[in-house]
Amino acid sequence: MTDSITISVPATVANVTVGFDILGFALEKPRELFTLNKIAEKTVRIIHRDGFELPVDPKKNISGIVLHKILEEGGFEFGFEFIAEKKIMPGSGLGSSAASAVAPAYAASQLLKTSWNQQTILQFAMSGEQAVSGARHADNIAPCLCGGLVLVRNHETVSIEFLPIPDVLVTVAHPQIEVKTSASRATLPKVYPLGMVTRSTARLGSFVSALYRKNMEDLKRTMIDELAEPHRIQLIPQGDKLLQIIRKEDIIGAGIAGSGPSLFCWSQNMETANTVEGIFQSHFERLSIPVKIYTGHISSEGAKTEIA
Ligand code: HSE
Repeated sequence: MTDSITISVPATVANVTVGFDILGFALEKPRELFTLNKIAEKTVRIIHRDGFELPVDPKKNISGIVLHKILEEGGFEFGFEFIAEKKIMPGSGLGSSAASAVAPAYAASQLLKTSWNQQTILQFAMSGEQAVSGARHADNIAPCLCGGLVLVRNHETVSIEFLPIPDVLVTVAHPQIEVKTSASRATLPKVYPLGMVTRSTARLGSFVSALYRKNMEDLKRTMIDELAEPHRIQLIPQGDKLLQIIRKEDIIGAGIAGSGPSLFCWSQNMETANTVEGIFQSHFERLSIPVKIYTGHISSEGAKTEIA
């Protein structure tokens, strides 16, 4: 049996305007690489080769927390060395912590040739995600592991459902500023007016139906976020103005990616996607904030082995 495996996992966008905490999709890029080595000593060693200054103490590191849980639950008498080459800056809204949680669980399942199913891998990943974000939501970890556009049916059991992937181009803008998920969640009210909940539920139902019917006009009508965006948009410099400008274009929908500060936009063709890229670029340039922009499709590819 080989004692080393290198895997990659995708960046992800959660919420998707209408599915707070329950919807997410995988991006074609960026993806990040992780290597898991099996070692004789019954311990967990974390090495970061990415300059993000993440903790390497395995009890404070998401991947370390996941690997400890795997060792504990599996009753294994060996240990792990985990090498991370992250590309997604923490606090980006692009599922950086989910990537660090899914990667060790997926890598261990492949390296040890376990019979864990998808849900078991997600449960291990969830233990890391929950420890750092302070909340139990699987809307990043599910598409990170499995790819596609995913609905989380139940966060306790981490049971998920795959939705049809719409034929859209996704443009993501990642301003190089950090917004911690916990801080972004703290901006949200604890209680919402009933009418707002009713409208949001109707939009989600209609969004899912539009996906199955491949009806782009109905998708356009539903992609409105009344629950999180009005509270979180203040965390993105002049974010309100930016979304207003983007929504004047012939797009399907746009919103905050996960808990921000990244934003995403769905377009139907490359011409619109290029226009959206230009709007993102000039907005952040004007504010002297470095930004990374990616355009691609929703990826059906989740975690995968690179070198076994
Ligand atoms: N659904 C989570 C949130 C995603 O919006 O807080 C965190 O990236």
